[in-house]
Amino acid sequence: MALFGGGKQLIGLDIGTSSVKLIELKSAGKKGYQLVNLGVTNLPPDTIVDGDIINTTAVTDAIKSILANLKLKTKITSTSVSGHSVIMKKINMPITTDEALAESIQWEAEQYIPFNINDVNLDFQVLERSTAEGQMSVFLVAAKKELINNYVTAIGEAGLNTTIIDIGVFALQNMFEVNYPEYMNDTVVLVNVGASITNFNVVSKGIPIFARDLTQSGGNQITEEIQKGLNISREEAEKRKVGASGTPVTPDVMEIIKAASDGISADIQRSIDFYLSTGGEKITKIMLSGGTAKTPEFSNLIAQKTGLPVEIMNPFKNVAVNTKVFDINYINEIAPIVSVAVGLSIRKAGN
Ligand SMILES: Nc1ncnc2c1ncn2[C@@H]1O[C@H](COP(=O)(O)OP(=O)(O)OP(=O)(O)O)[C@@H](O)[C@H]1O
Ligand SMILES: [Mg+2]
Repeated sequence: MALFGGGKQLIGLDIGTSSVKLIELKSAGKKGYQLVNLGVTNLPPDTIVDGDIINTTAVTDAIKSILANLKLKTKITSTSVSGHSVIMKKINMPITTDEALAESIQWEAEQYIPFNINDVNLDFQVLERSTAEGQMSVFLVAAKKELINNYVTAIGEAGLNTTIIDIGVFALQNMFEVNYPEYMNDTVVLVNVGASITNFNVVSKGIPIFARDLTQSGGNQITEEIQKGLNISREEAEKRKVGASGTPVTPDVMEIIKAASDGISADIQRSIDFYLSTGGEKITKIMLSGGTAKTPEFSNLIAQKTGLPVEIMNPFKNVAVNTKVFDINYINEIAPIVSVAVGLSIRKAGN
Protein backbone atom coordinates (compact mmCIF):
# COMPACT_ATOMS: atom_id res chain seq x y z
CA MET A 1 0.00 0.00 0.00
CA ALA A 2 1.42 3.37 -0.91
CA LEU A 3 0.06 6.84 -1.32
CA PHE A 4 2.47 7.45 -4.11
CA GLY A 5 4.69 5.54 -6.52
CA GLY A 6 6.65 2.25 -6.76
CA GLY A 7 10.32 1.29 -7.32
CA LYS A 8 13.15 -1.18 -6.50
CA GLN A 9 15.67 -1.48 -3.64
CA LEU A 10 14.83 1.31 -1.21
CA ILE A 11 16.36 3.56 1.41
CA GLY A 12 14.03 3.91 4.43
CA LEU A 13 13.83 7.55 5.48
CA ASP A 14 11.71 8.41 8.52
CA ILE A 15 11.34 12.15 9.00
CA GLY A 16 10.16 12.49 12.60
CA THR A 17 9.47 15.45 14.85
CA SER A 18 12.75 15.11 16.73
CA SER A 19 15.03 13.54 14.14
CA VAL A 20 15.53 12.11 10.65
CA LYS A 21 16.38 8.41 10.53
CA LEU A 22 17.87 6.63 7.52
CA ILE A 23 18.14 2.85 7.16
CA GLU A 24 19.46 0.81 4.25
CA LEU A 25 19.05 -2.96 4.37
CA LYS A 26 20.18 -5.71 2.06
CA SER A 27 18.00 -8.70 1.44
CA ALA A 28 19.91 -11.74 2.66
CA GLY A 29 17.66 -14.35 1.00
CA LYS A 30 16.19 -16.91 3.40
CA LYS A 31 18.21 -15.44 6.24
CA GLY A 32 16.14 -12.27 6.10
CA TYR A 33 17.91 -8.91 6.02
CA GLN A 34 21.25 -7.37 6.75
CA LEU A 35 21.90 -3.82 7.92
CA VAL A 36 23.95 -1.84 5.39
CA ASN A 37 23.59 1.79 6.49
CA LEU A 38 22.14 3.64 9.45
CA GLY A 39 22.05 7.37 10.14
CA VAL A 40 20.17 9.58 12.58
CA THR A 41 20.29 13.38 12.83
CA ASN A 42 18.31 15.65 15.14
CA LEU A 43 15.99 18.30 13.76
CA PRO A 44 15.64 21.78 15.28
CA PRO A 45 12.43 22.31 17.30
CA ASP A 46 9.33 23.25 15.28
CA THR A 47 10.73 21.89 11.99
CA ILE A 48 7.88 19.36 11.97
CA VAL A 49 4.62 20.14 13.76
CA ASP A 50 1.90 17.48 14.10
CA GLY A 51 3.47 15.62 11.16
CA ASP A 52 3.58 18.62 8.77
CA ILE A 53 6.92 19.96 7.52
CA ILE A 54 7.09 23.61 8.57
CA ASN A 55 10.75 24.16 7.68
CA THR A 56 11.68 22.28 4.49
CA THR A 57 15.27 23.58 4.46
CA ALA A 58 15.95 22.24 7.95
CA VAL A 59 14.76 18.78 6.85
CA THR A 60 16.90 18.91 3.69
CA ASP A 61 19.94 19.98 5.72
CA ALA A 62 19.43 17.12 8.19
CA ILE A 63 19.20 14.57 5.36
CA LYS A 64 22.32 16.04 3.71
CA SER A 65 24.26 15.78 6.96
CA ILE A 66 23.32 12.10 7.23
CA LEU A 67 24.30 11.47 3.59
CA ALA A 68 27.67 13.17 4.09
CA ASN A 69 28.71 10.27 6.35
CA LEU A 70 27.33 7.36 4.34
CA LYS A 71 27.94 5.55 1.09
CA LEU A 72 24.48 4.60 -0.09
CA LYS A 73 23.91 1.90 -2.68
CA THR A 74 20.88 3.70 -4.10
CA LYS A 75 19.13 7.06 -4.04
CA ILE A 76 15.68 5.57 -4.24
CA THR A 77 13.82 6.29 -1.06
CA SER A 78 10.72 5.22 0.76
CA THR A 79 9.31 7.55 3.40
CA SER A 80 6.16 7.89 5.46
CA VAL A 81 3.76 10.50 6.73
CA SER A 82 1.88 10.52 10.02
CA GLY A 83 -0.26 12.88 12.02
CA HIS A 84 -3.32 15.03 11.60
CA SER A 85 -3.13 15.46 7.81
CA VAL A 86 -3.32 11.70 7.29
CA ILE A 87 -6.74 10.07 7.24
CA MET A 88 -7.13 6.32 7.84
CA LYS A 89 -10.52 4.70 7.73
CA LYS A 90 -11.91 1.22 7.51
CA ILE A 91 -15.02 1.27 5.37
CA ASN A 92 -17.53 -1.35 4.26
CA MET A 93 -18.89 -1.51 0.73
CA PRO A 94 -20.44 -3.97 -1.70
CA ILE A 95 -17.92 -6.49 -3.09
CA THR A 96 -16.06 -5.42 -6.18
CA THR A 97 -12.69 -6.14 -7.80
CA ASP A 98 -9.51 -4.20 -6.97
CA GLU A 99 -9.52 -2.81 -10.51
CA ALA A 100 -13.09 -1.54 -10.26
CA LEU A 101 -12.37 -0.10 -6.84
CA ALA A 102 -9.29 1.70 -8.15
CA GLU A 103 -11.60 3.48 -10.57
CA SER A 104 -14.35 4.30 -8.11
CA ILE A 105 -12.26 4.97 -4.99
CA GLN A 106 -12.18 8.73 -5.54
CA TRP A 107 -15.96 8.84 -5.54
CA GLU A 108 -16.36 6.31 -2.70
CA ALA A 109 -13.83 8.12 -0.53
CA GLU A 110 -15.38 11.54 -0.86
CA GLN A 111 -17.90 10.98 1.94
CA TYR A 112 -15.19 9.88 4.40
CA ILE A 113 -12.52 12.50 3.79
CA PRO A 114 -12.81 15.83 5.62
CA PHE A 115 -10.72 17.57 2.91
CA ASN A 116 -11.49 18.42 -0.71
CA ILE A 117 -11.00 15.14 -2.56
CA ASN A 118 -8.94 16.89 -5.25
CA ASP A 119 -6.45 18.01 -2.59
CA VAL A 120 -5.54 14.51 -1.40
CA ASN A 121 -3.63 11.42 -2.57
CA LEU A 122 -5.64 8.27 -1.97
CA ASP A 123 -4.88 4.62 -1.61
CA PHE A 124 -6.74 1.57 -0.38
CA GLN A 125 -6.23 -2.02 0.68
CA VAL A 126 -9.01 -4.61 0.64
CA LEU A 127 -8.90 -6.27 4.07
CA GLU A 128 -11.59 -8.88 3.71
CA ARG A 129 -14.12 -9.98 1.12
CA SER A 130 -16.91 -11.77 3.00
CA THR A 131 -19.10 -13.25 0.30
CA ALA A 132 -21.88 -14.13 2.77
CA GLU A 133 -23.12 -10.56 3.12
CA GLY A 134 -21.81 -9.46 -0.26
CA GLN A 135 -19.71 -6.88 1.57
CA MET A 136 -16.02 -6.19 1.75
CA SER A 137 -14.00 -4.11 4.18
CA VAL A 138 -11.49 -1.70 2.76
CA PHE A 139 -8.77 0.28 4.49
CA LEU A 140 -8.79 3.75 3.02
CA VAL A 141 -5.82 6.10 3.35
CA ALA A 142 -5.64 9.73 2.31
CA ALA A 143 -3.02 12.42 2.81
CA LYS A 144 -3.04 16.01 1.63
CA LYS A 145 -1.10 16.52 -1.61
CA GLU A 146 0.51 19.59 -0.07
CA LEU A 147 1.90 17.49 2.79
CA ILE A 148 3.24 14.89 0.38
CA ASN A 149 4.77 17.56 -1.86
CA ASN A 150 6.62 19.03 1.12
CA TYR A 151 8.15 15.62 1.89
CA VAL A 152 9.08 14.97 -1.74
CA THR A 153 10.65 18.45 -2.02
CA ALA A 154 12.66 18.19 1.21
CA ILE A 155 14.02 14.78 0.20
CA GLY A 156 14.61 15.78 -3.44
CA GLU A 157 16.59 18.88 -2.44
CA ALA A 158 18.93 16.58 -0.52
CA GLY A 159 19.60 14.58 -3.69
CA LEU A 160 17.41 11.53 -3.05
CA ASN A 161 14.39 10.35 -5.05
CA THR A 162 11.18 9.50 -3.28
CA THR A 163 9.48 6.54 -4.82
CA ILE A 164 7.10 5.42 -2.08
CA ILE A 165 5.21 7.44 0.48
CA ASP A 166 3.64 5.15 3.01
CA ILE A 167 1.95 5.95 6.30
CA GLY A 168 3.71 5.49 9.64
CA VAL A 169 1.36 2.80 10.98
CA PHE A 170 1.98 0.56 7.94
CA ALA A 171 5.76 1.03 7.99
CA LEU A 172 5.59 -0.03 11.63
CA GLN A 173 3.58 -3.09 10.65
CA ASN A 174 6.17 -4.06 8.00
CA MET A 175 8.88 -3.91 10.64
CA PHE A 176 6.72 -6.00 13.00
CA GLU A 177 5.94 -8.67 10.39
CA VAL A 178 9.57 -9.23 9.46
CA ASN A 179 10.73 -9.43 13.07
CA TYR A 180 7.82 -11.09 14.87
CA PRO A 181 6.36 -13.81 12.60
CA GLU A 182 5.58 -15.79 15.80
CA TYR A 183 2.72 -13.33 16.50
CA MET A 184 1.15 -13.62 13.06
CA ASN A 185 -1.91 -15.47 14.39
CA ASP A 186 -2.52 -13.10 17.29
CA THR A 187 -4.21 -9.77 17.77
CA VAL A 188 -1.66 -7.27 19.06
CA VAL A 189 -1.47 -3.50 19.05
CA LEU A 190 1.63 -1.82 17.68
CA VAL A 191 2.26 1.44 19.53
CA ASN A 192 5.10 3.70 18.34
CA VAL A 193 5.49 6.62 20.76
CA GLY A 194 7.68 9.31 19.20
CA ALA A 195 8.33 12.92 20.20
CA SER A 196 4.89 14.25 19.35
CA ILE A 197 2.94 11.53 17.52
CA THR A 198 1.89 8.05 18.63
CA ASN A 199 1.23 5.61 15.78
CA PHE A 200 -1.39 3.07 16.89
CA ASN A 201 -2.19 -0.04 14.83
CA VAL A 202 -4.20 -3.08 15.96
CA VAL A 203 -2.97 -5.96 13.82
CA SER A 204 -4.99 -9.16 13.82
CA LYS A 205 -3.57 -12.12 11.90
CA GLY A 206 -1.55 -9.76 9.77
CA ILE A 207 -4.46 -7.42 9.00
CA PRO A 208 -4.48 -3.79 10.20
CA ILE A 209 -7.96 -3.70 11.73
CA PHE A 210 -7.84 -0.39 13.58
CA ALA A 211 -5.20 2.26 13.00
CA ARG A 212 -4.84 5.91 13.92
CA ASP A 213 -2.23 8.50 14.81
CA LEU A 214 -2.54 10.27 18.16
CA THR A 215 -1.12 13.78 17.88
CA GLN A 216 0.47 15.73 20.72
CA SER A 217 1.05 12.46 22.49
CA GLY A 218 4.74 11.69 22.87
CA GLY A 219 8.05 12.51 24.51
CA ASN A 220 7.74 16.26 23.89
CA GLN A 221 4.81 16.27 26.31
CA ILE A 222 7.05 14.76 28.98
CA THR A 223 9.87 17.23 28.24
CA GLU A 224 7.43 20.19 28.41
CA GLU A 225 6.21 19.11 31.84
CA ILE A 226 9.80 18.89 33.11
CA GLN A 227 10.51 22.30 31.60
CA LYS A 228 7.48 23.84 33.33
CA GLY A 229 7.87 21.95 36.60
CA LEU A 230 11.53 22.85 37.10
CA ASN A 231 11.41 26.18 35.26
CA ILE A 232 14.32 25.29 32.96
CA SER A 233 14.93 25.51 29.19
CA ARG A 234 13.67 22.91 26.76
CA GLU A 235 17.22 21.70 26.05
CA GLU A 236 17.94 21.35 29.75
CA ALA A 237 14.63 19.53 30.34
CA GLU A 238 15.39 17.11 27.47
CA LYS A 239 18.82 16.36 28.97
CA ARG A 240 17.37 15.80 32.43
CA LYS A 241 14.77 13.44 30.96
CA VAL A 242 17.12 11.33 28.86
CA GLY A 243 19.72 11.20 31.68
CA ALA A 244 23.15 12.20 30.35
CA SER A 245 25.62 9.35 29.67
CA GLY A 246 24.24 6.71 31.97
CA THR A 247 23.38 8.96 34.95
CA PRO A 248 19.96 7.99 36.25
CA VAL A 249 17.26 10.67 36.24
CA THR A 250 16.83 12.47 39.55
CA PRO A 251 13.79 11.75 41.77
CA ASP A 252 12.15 15.14 41.10
CA VAL A 253 12.38 14.55 37.32
CA MET A 254 11.17 10.97 37.75
CA GLU A 255 8.02 12.25 39.48
CA ILE A 256 7.22 14.48 36.51
CA ILE A 257 8.07 11.74 33.99
CA LYS A 258 5.61 9.40 35.71
CA ALA A 259 2.79 11.95 35.73
CA ALA A 260 3.34 12.88 32.07
CA SER A 261 3.71 9.23 31.01
CA ASP A 262 0.39 8.61 32.70
CA GLY A 263 -1.17 11.11 30.28
CA ILE A 264 0.26 9.26 27.27
CA SER A 265 -0.89 5.91 28.72
CA ALA A 266 -4.38 7.39 29.09
CA ASP A 267 -4.36 8.36 25.38
CA ILE A 268 -3.36 4.79 24.47
CA GLN A 269 -6.02 3.35 26.78
CA ARG A 270 -8.68 5.59 25.18
CA SER A 271 -7.78 4.28 21.72
CA ILE A 272 -7.89 0.69 22.97
CA ASP A 273 -11.32 1.35 24.55
CA PHE A 274 -12.57 2.92 21.35
CA TYR A 275 -11.29 -0.01 19.30
CA LEU A 276 -12.98 -2.49 21.67
CA SER A 277 -16.25 -0.52 21.49
CA THR A 278 -16.30 -1.23 17.73
CA GLY A 279 -16.54 -4.95 18.61
CA GLY A 280 -12.86 -5.68 17.89
CA GLU A 281 -11.04 -8.89 18.86
CA LYS A 282 -9.41 -9.01 22.29
CA ILE A 283 -5.84 -7.62 22.24
CA THR A 284 -3.27 -9.98 23.74
CA LYS A 285 -0.22 -7.72 23.80
CA ILE A 286 1.11 -4.20 23.31
CA MET A 287 4.18 -4.12 21.04
CA LEU A 288 5.96 -0.88 21.92
CA SER A 289 8.49 1.18 19.95
CA GLY A 290 9.60 4.79 19.40
CA GLY A 291 12.13 6.88 21.32
CA THR A 292 9.70 7.45 24.17
CA ALA A 293 9.61 3.69 24.82
CA LYS A 294 13.10 4.31 26.30
CA THR A 295 11.69 6.53 29.06
CA PRO A 296 12.33 4.92 32.45
CA GLU A 297 9.27 3.07 33.78
CA PHE A 298 7.28 3.94 30.63
CA SER A 299 6.48 0.39 29.52
CA ASN A 300 5.58 -0.62 33.12
CA LEU A 301 3.21 2.33 33.42
CA ILE A 302 1.47 1.38 30.16
CA ALA A 303 1.17 -2.24 31.30
CA GLN A 304 -0.36 -1.10 34.60
CA LYS A 305 -2.79 1.31 32.98
CA THR A 306 -4.00 -1.04 30.26
CA GLY A 307 -3.71 -4.35 32.10
CA LEU A 308 -1.95 -5.77 29.02
CA PRO A 309 1.54 -7.21 28.71
CA VAL A 310 3.96 -4.84 26.99
CA GLU A 311 6.93 -5.93 24.87
CA ILE A 312 9.47 -3.45 23.51
CA MET A 313 10.06 -4.33 19.85
CA ASN A 314 13.51 -4.85 18.43
CA PRO A 315 13.52 -3.78 14.76
CA PHE A 316 16.79 -5.71 14.28
CA LYS A 317 15.49 -8.98 15.73
CA ASN A 318 15.61 -10.64 12.30
CA VAL A 319 18.07 -8.21 10.73
CA ALA A 320 21.70 -9.28 10.79
CA VAL A 321 24.01 -6.57 12.12
CA ASN A 322 27.73 -6.93 11.47
CA THR A 323 29.36 -5.93 14.76
CA LYS A 324 32.66 -5.27 12.98
CA VAL A 325 30.94 -2.43 11.13
CA PHE A 326 28.37 -1.24 13.68
CA ASP A 327 28.81 -0.56 17.39
CA ILE A 328 26.31 -2.99 18.93
CA ASN A 329 25.77 -0.80 22.02
CA TYR A 330 24.77 2.08 19.78
CA ILE A 331 22.48 -0.19 17.73
CA ASN A 332 20.74 -1.35 20.91
CA GLU A 333 20.38 2.26 22.10
CA ILE A 334 18.97 3.50 18.82
CA ALA A 335 16.79 0.47 18.01
CA PRO A 336 13.37 1.74 19.25
CA ILE A 337 13.97 5.05 17.43
CA VAL A 338 14.54 3.50 14.00
CA SER A 339 11.53 1.14 14.03
CA VAL A 340 9.59 3.04 11.35
CA ALA A 341 12.74 3.58 9.23
CA VAL A 342 13.47 -0.17 9.29
CA GLY A 343 9.88 -0.85 8.21
CA LEU A 344 10.30 1.60 5.32
CA SER A 345 13.58 0.08 4.18
CA ILE A 346 11.93 -3.35 3.96
CA ARG A 347 9.64 -1.99 1.26
CA LYS A 348 10.49 -3.14 -2.24
CA ALA A 349 9.27 -2.46 -5.72
CA GLY A 350 5.49 -2.36 -5.98
CA ASN A 351 4.56 -3.96 -2.63
N1 LIG B 1 16.69 7.54 26.70
C1 LIG B 1 15.55 8.19 26.54
N2 LIG B 1 14.73 8.42 27.59
C2 LIG B 1 13.58 9.09 27.44
N3 LIG B 1 13.14 9.59 26.27
C3 LIG B 1 13.91 9.39 25.20
C4 LIG B 1 15.13 8.70 25.25
N4 LIG B 1 15.67 8.67 24.03
C5 LIG B 1 14.81 9.33 23.22
N5 LIG B 1 13.75 9.77 23.92
C6 LIG B 1 12.61 10.55 23.44
O1 LIG B 1 12.09 9.95 22.28
C7 LIG B 1 11.49 10.96 21.47
C8 LIG B 1 11.94 10.75 20.04
O2 LIG B 1 11.45 9.51 19.58
P1 LIG B 1 11.31 9.21 18.04
O3 LIG B 1 12.61 9.39 17.39
O4 LIG B 1 10.64 7.89 17.94
O5 LIG B 1 10.31 10.38 17.61
P2 LIG B 1 10.18 11.11 16.21
O6 LIG B 1 10.02 10.07 15.16
O7 LIG B 1 11.29 12.07 16.02
O8 LIG B 1 8.86 11.94 16.40
P3 LIG B 1 7.36 11.68 15.89
O9 LIG B 1 7.26 10.25 15.46
O10 LIG B 1 6.53 11.98 17.09
O11 LIG B 1 7.15 12.64 14.79
C9 LIG B 1 11.90 12.30 22.02
O12 LIG B 1 10.83 12.88 22.72
C10 LIG B 1 13.03 11.93 22.98
O13 LIG B 1 13.10 12.79 24.08
MG1 LIG C 1 8.41 8.87 14.56
